[in-house]
Amino acid sequence: MADPAARAAELRALLKEHNYLYHVLDAPEVSDIEFDELFRELQGLEATHPEVVVPDSPTRQVGGPVSDAFAPVTHRERMFSLDNVESLEDLEAWRTRLVRLLDREPNAYSCELKIDGLAISLTYEAGHLVRAATRGDGITGEDITANVRTIGNVPRVLRGDAPSVVEVRGEIYMPVSAFDELNERQAAEGKPPYVNPRNTAAGSVRQKDPAATAARRLSLWAYQIGFLEGGPELASHTEQMDWISELGLPVNPENRAVGTIDEVEAYVRNAEDHRHTHDYDTDGIVIKVDSLADQRDLGFTAKSPRWAVAYKLPPEEKTTTLLDIKINVGRTGAVTPYAVLEPVFVGGVTVTNTTLHNESDLHRRNVRPGDTVIVRRAGDVIPEIVGPVLSLRPKGLPQWHMPEECPFCGNPIVLPDGEAKAKCTGGYECPSRLREYLAHFAGRGAMDIEGLGYKTVDLLLSEGLVRDPADVFTLKPDDLLGREGWGEISVANLLGAIDEAKDRDVGRLLTGFGIDHVGGTVARVLARRFGSIDALSSATEDDITEIDGIGPEIAGSVVAWFNDDENARLVEKMRAAGVRMIDPIVEEAGGDLLEGVTVVITGSLDGYSRSEAKAAVEDRGGKVTGSVSGKTTALVAGASPGSKMTRAVDLGVPVLDEDAFIRLLEEGQDSLGG
Ligand code: IVH
Repeated sequence: MADPAARAAELRALLKEHNYLYHVLDAPEVSDIEFDELFRELQGLEATHPEVVVPDSPTRQVGGPVSDAFAPVTHRERMFSLDNVESLEDLEAWRTRLVRLLDREPNAYSCELKIDGLAISLTYEAGHLVRAATRGDGITGEDITANVRTIGNVPRVLRGDAPSVVEVRGEIYMPVSAFDELNERQAAEGKPPYVNPRNTAAGSVRQKDPAATAARRLSLWAYQIGFLEGGPELASHTEQMDWISELGLPVNPENRAVGTIDEVEAYVRNAEDHRHTHDYDTDGIVIKVDSLADQRDLGFTAKSPRWAVAYKLPPEEKTTTLLDIKINVGRTGAVTPYAVLEPVFVGGVTVTNTTLHNESDLHRRNVRPGDTVIVRRAGDVIPEIVGPVLSLRPKGLPQWHMPEECPFCGNPIVLPDGEAKAKCTGGYECPSRLREYLAHFAGRGAMDIEGLGYKTVDLLLSEGLVRDPADVFTLKPDDLLGREGWGEISVANLLGAIDEAKDRDVGRLLTGFGIDHVGGTVARVLARRFGSIDALSSATEDDITEIDGIGPEIAGSVVAWFNDDENARLVEKMRAAGVRMIDPIVEEAGGDLLEGVTVVITGSLDGYSRSEAKAAVEDRGGKVTGSVSGKTTALVAGASPGSKMTRAVDLGVPVLDEDAFIRLLEEGQDSLGG
């Protein structure tokens, strides 16, 4: 190392600055883990080079300095922070130290979730909340009593036998649900999103106006007694928590007292697995020696208790550089900007790019190429950029704008009226769009053409073998034979799969068309209702919205799709290539399977809504009427049929259950047996 003293000074300056940003301004610029890395580096340097240690090193302090916005409060007992462990080995080392210091294993440990909020000290005198203070630097915090009084589950008066003085510590947090709601409101108002629940909670308790705090749905988990006078004699932390819980303070039900370090490990694993099942963010697990006598014997180091540790969970937010913003043209022609990031390991994966949705969202989030950005990935959720670190933005960094021309095909990119998503106007001429379209069209959920993945699609496009999706169906062996990786067998397999796909049902073809809002489920419903592409293409929006569960948005999008000339040409080209356009049942029946049949439908069916059942009969040339008469061919009776059933029986009209109804649809009147 070049100069340990210089590096130590640099690290001290960095840590002090970050401490200030975190604790005073509630505006951290680095993630906790990055802070910890710097902190550990300084600790390491100080351990190996004692001459670089200075008395006011951040390694000797807890938290940050106090700001002057709220009145200072000196804590009765110092508010310590916790040492971190990051692995089960570290945890084992901690236990070994305990055994050495106590000369035996502790009797019990309390395992708790480490809530990612802000530490608070609450003082109750004769049962009344008299003061709420932030941690500040651990010795002096800020008086935020007025704000904390507005928090729903912070009791202002304790229940039962209150002691003369009790100081309780805990974590104030913003529930994830409250945070999401808040950000939905921000988005609706076109305002930038809040970055995370922790910072938002911290900002909320430090509002000048308590009404502003009250408007945020904050919450408390109490986790420690800091000071007690005139209370019961309690022997363990768990007993203390049970007791304050009886006084009306919220104690997390996830807390668990266990007897062995193996059980601690099991708690840790379980907490990791269930990290996202709670309505609050956690950043670790806190493990405490349960016996208060043991805690007293173990005591404190300069910074933290020896009787507790925080097992850190991997951070779900990190900062990285937004290198560039590029665009994708998707299968519908929609243009989506995405971020190219300096690769960053967050939430268990390396993130190299993330979607930015659309230009207005990108501007709302206020991110620009060159920014340092906060990337978040929690659980299985898709990674996202939550926002820039504005204080690190280089001067004069320009905004990003959607290019006027598509970089793939050179055609204009337009923003259709009233829409957020820009569109490439190149149609299938756009290689990016065609590539996405084909991959989707051939995909599992659609036409399911085995062997036609991105790799083959790329070959077909680069060799000019396919100019629109219908060209796939007229590929010849010679188009492919002899190209790298394509021998007789692989070519025969692909062309065989394509041939087979020509006979896929209409629902799959419709899914393959990739009509906006028409996924597999809707496509199947439409196919069943209309029976053929032609019937659907001549349907009006009203015809389509008649189907249960299909609204005007889907209907509008279907009608618009079929009205588009390019799509109409595509359909004709596929038809000419022999792609099935009509449901086999409808085809066989020729649309008159149920000619002359009149049915009445009553009660509820499992597989059909009322309008679908009606459509199924009408598609086959039958009629559906509302009341049973002598002319009724059959009554279709689902669950809870009612009075129509009685009338049918009286008139001798056959009554069909759902299975018999399906047979009628498949086989026609013959299924009624004469
Ligand atoms: S006990 C003397 N228990 O984590 C140690 N802390 O660095 C007292 N935290 O400042 C802390 N959940 O804000 C404890 N169940 C829990 C906690 C918890 C979150 C926070 C607390 C503290 C920091 C430790």
